[in-house]
Amino acid sequence: MEVKQSAFAGSYAKETQCPRDGKPEYAFIGRSNVGKSSLVNMLCKRKGIARISRTPGKTQLLNYFLINEEWYLVDLPGYGYAKISKKKRQEWQRMIRTYLKTRYTLQSAFVLIDSNVPPQEIDLEFMNELGAEQIPFSIVYTKADRLKVHELEENLEKIRAAILEHWEELPPEFISSSNTGRGRAELLAYIHQVNQQYFEHHDDL
Ligand code: GTP
Ligand code: MG
Repeated sequence: MEVKQSAFAGSYAKETQCPRDGKPEYAFIGRSNVGKSSLVNMLCKRKGIARISRTPGKTQLLNYFLINEEWYLVDLPGYGYAKISKKKRQEWQRMIRTYLKTRYTLQSAFVLIDSNVPPQEIDLEFMNELGAEQIPFSIVYTKADRLKVHELEENLEKIRAAILEHWEELPPEFISSSNTGRGRAELLAYIHQVNQQYFEHHDDL
């Protein structure tokens, strides 16, 4: 699949405000600063469609991007940003939980994990939450351009081992770099395949 068209579709503070047109959607989620917005831009081949920041915690809303007038990419606010108040963090948790639990068109979540850092408890906890809610997810390892091939593979092995302490098998994984475009074709092919299954059952779309 190629992205022929991409457009910012809106930002919403809660699930009840999100589009109701039944199009399939895919959510990017992960720690603050992991590279979610950069990945949206990379997939769309548009530098500024999603806002990127050196300051973590930039994305505070559910940001929707309509791709090829067919499906949505959703850039979710990052978790684990230390400098926000406890109250804000609880608000975030409530918003994301409600979104994930109730979003009827969500096909899959992509949990973004920084390929440069050792396994993080907060990522593992988040994956466990998705599992408890039976939400299908894949992993996208981000910023793969920053490490040498063997360093990358060593760190990914550590992360995989940590995941396997909680899970019987690994979820589908993608290795990506928003700088080089690595992983783009694989991610789009995966989304295309899931979309095809969805459209087979929704021929009104
Ligand atoms: P929040 O919205 O704050 O949760 O952050 P985010 O997950 O959307 O991260 P964002 O895309 O804003 O990127 C954070 C920082 O990481 C920026 O300085 C990016 O330039 C950098 N970055 C993102 N992706 C890559 C990548 O593939 N390679 C490298 N080297 N840097 C990256
Ligand atoms: Mg962002």
